[in-house]
Amino acid sequence: MALESINHIIREFEIDKPEMRRIMRAFSLEMKAGLEKGGKSSLKMLPTYVRKPTGEESGIFFALDLGGTNFRILEIELKEKGRAKILKAMNFKLPNRCITGDGRELFLYIAGCLKKFLYRYEISNEVCLGFTFSFPIDQTAIDEGRLLNWTKGFGLKGVIGKDVVQLLKEALAKRGLGNVEILALLNDTVGTLVARSYKDPDCRIGIILGTGTNACYSEKLLNIKKLKGRVSKGEDMIINIEWGNFNKLALTRYDRKLDKLSANPGEQILEKMVSGKYLGEVLRLILNGLVQKKFLFLNLGSTNLDVPDLFKAEHISDIENDVSRDLEKTKGTLKSLGIRSSTERDRHIIKRICAAISRRASRVSASCTASIIKEMDPNLSKAHTIAVDGTLYEKHPRFSKNMETAFREIFGKKASRVKMALTKDGSGIGAAIVAAIVERDKIEKV
Ligand code: BGC
Repeated sequence: MALESINHIIREFEIDKPEMRRIMRAFSLEMKAGLEKGGKSSLKMLPTYVRKPTGEESGIFFALDLGGTNFRILEIELKEKGRAKILKAMNFKLPNRCITGDGRELFLYIAGCLKKFLYRYEISNEVCLGFTFSFPIDQTAIDEGRLLNWTKGFGLKGVIGKDVVQLLKEALAKRGLGNVEILALLNDTVGTLVARSYKDPDCRIGIILGTGTNACYSEKLLNIKKLKGRVSKGEDMIINIEWGNFNKLALTRYDRKLDKLSANPGEQILEKMVSGKYLGEVLRLILNGLVQKKFLFLNLGSTNLDVPDLFKAEHISDIENDVSRDLEKTKGTLKSLGIRSSTERDRHIIKRICAAISRRASRVSASCTASIIKEMDPNLSKAHTIAVDGTLYEKHPRFSKNMETAFREIFGKKASRVKMALTKDGSGIGAAIVAAIVERDKIEKV
């Protein structure tokens, strides 16, 4: 009975080949609809006003990189021929008041961190920077964009509908930073794509698989029917898909429960099945159900499986990484989370469930990626490098391999034309490169 139930749950999380094909078709329809004027789609398909770099961009630029609860400031040297070097870097952890408090706090905090950075490195000349702000932004120019909604558990008041560059400029002025010029606003996926394509012309897709998840790709201007703002140059523009909001996916009862308990019910459905912020919570909900049915942790009177967000994605990685026969390390992981005792059987069940959750996430990601590739190159006649960053992709033992297997199932032999490339620090380096593109365009105009 117990085993049957567990096998049933694992089957519910399986994304077989026909399901991958179905996801690809649905994703492609949503991509098209999202590019139309007034088109209805769960994919926001946001114009970014960024085009791919030539690889010849050069100079020293700064990046403010806000991806989630971590915030980074970088000084980057671009040396042409695709060579970029981080000269200086400082990392900050956002305090809680900058995640769910008043929006002004966040921008004052960012400006304060920049002040510290400039003071520490004794920088007083002009600072030209790119601002990576990794949330859905309705951009109307390269340095202008309004926040559409918060994701990843953020919920700051007074920011939705406002131009985030303007908010940052006001905060910089309050901190007395008159020497700072914000040249560009961009999403982390865009930074990642740009950073990789600086040295690799085959790169046209950028993906983040971390706390949140999203993808962007390079689209022909002609196909972007809804474009409002002015475009100075080029025939292509990077589109921020905001794939985390894709909602044509088959949900299990656990996904529904997680969505209901989340800060943004009904939104970011794909993100809740794929990204690091949520995978641990899916695991907790499944285990809690099994405990209630008395299929797990029979030796324990009570567990703390009622505590939201008990498991993080890194625990899933740790458990799947444990190859010892009796899963001794997993025992330690569970103990560290307050689950005092577990049998070997419990741990094997948990490991199987972890694998099902992360496998589903990787196959959903692969299906959507395959759909983007098909949109750009229906016969897969070119080579495609996909720039990927994010802790889930980087740290999980099988995420990338599972995606590659899925590509082989979808594309057959042609899958060898698709290469995924871990692009570390892409969101920061890309911000510097985009700032360099903007500056070059300005000079050429004069
Ligand atoms: C945001 C995206 C971002 C992604 C990865 C999502 O929650 O909506 O804009 O690119 O997280 O950081």
